[in-house]
Amino acid sequence: MLKLPGLIDPHVHFRDPGQTHKEDWDSGTASALAGGVTMVLAMPNTKPPIFDQATLDLALEAARRKARCDYAQYLGAGPENAAEAARLAPRAAALKMYLDSTFGQLRLDDMTLWLEHFRQWPGKTPIVTHSESRSMAAALWMAHMFDKPIHIAHISLREEVLLIRAAKEHGVKVTCEVCPHHLFLMQPAPSSAPSFGDHGAGPGGGRTEVRPRLATQADVDALWANLDVIDCFATDHAPHTLAEKDGENPPPGFPGVETLLPLLLTAVHDGRISLDQLIEKTITNPRRIFNLPEQPQTWVEVDEKAEYEIKASELHSRCGWTPFEGWKVTGKVTKVVLRGREAFKEGQILVEPGFGRNVRD
Ligand code: NCD
Ligand code: ZN
Repeated sequence: MLKLPGLIDPHVHFRDPGQTHKEDWDSGTASALAGGVTMVLAMPNTKPPIFDQATLDLALEAARRKARCDYAQYLGAGPENAAEAARLAPRAAALKMYLDSTFGQLRLDDMTLWLEHFRQWPGKTPIVTHSESRSMAAALWMAHMFDKPIHIAHISLREEVLLIRAAKEHGVKVTCEVCPHHLFLMQPAPSSAPSFGDHGAGPGGGRTEVRPRLATQADVDALWANLDVIDCFATDHAPHTLAEKDGENPPPGFPGVETLLPLLLTAVHDGRISLDQLIEKTITNPRRIFNLPEQPQTWVEVDEKAEYEIKASELHSRCGWTPFEGWKVTGKVTKVVLRGREAFKEGQILVEPGFGRNVRD
């Protein structure tokens, strides 16, 4: 039996308020606990998006009633909320900026809008950017100009990890995260049946849609080769239902909060990462980067020899599928204790909705 501190996932989408048929604070935090994750930072692209006092209150009230593990809520950077976001910063996980994709009220049409956020955000927590490739380079430059910490979400490309290495060497206050799906899965082959990494064929069509997209073998190899530059493992848990994924216009996103630890334990078992790296990138670093409190009397028990198959039918997310269906993993979460309470044991969630605490309170 292996005992770990509770994991922190700094990047989840729990769809609450607004799209609770995909997930809510209850099902999302149940899924987290079953995966050994005892603290989550929730993204603001809900309906409505979380970008001012009223919407922050709305999300936090839902979380207060329903969350089973500890949490904090991100604020989204919109075109007109830089001052209010800065004022609300102490109550937020951090600030999220969507620089590539377009997101309703979180849409930042030109770079002068980014500028206001970099100018005003207090910087006790980072500005977290969804910024791919060249927009990542622009964001790095802005962070450097204002001497503010920036955290690059879900890096997926060789050029990204190498640019971040160079930026760190030049003293930019940059940190970054990588998602399991960008380490373990690759983009589908253009003509043949979609291939899903080195574990054989996986689902096709809409189920391979995720942002950033799954990348090439060269990108995946570069991420593994430069793990020392990568500060955190984060899931970007982005649940959409199977009907949505298999329908017309499938929305991008993979669930992941419950499969993070088994996949990483398997990488430890296979000698691809060390247990120290796992702990550093899922606990120590996220705690430091996001200025998160320690969770007293909190730990995860793992049977590191247990082999089993990942099955969506056994996961707690409301979305009903996983891109890792049928994968054989080594390392099973057997028990989770959160602030002295048994929260998960032998497949059962043992804490009620509302047990979770807002770590910014
Ligand atoms: C995210 C979601 O579903 O909220 N999807 C994803 O593929 N990561 C949104 C996004 O970042 O595009
Ligand atoms: Zn995301």
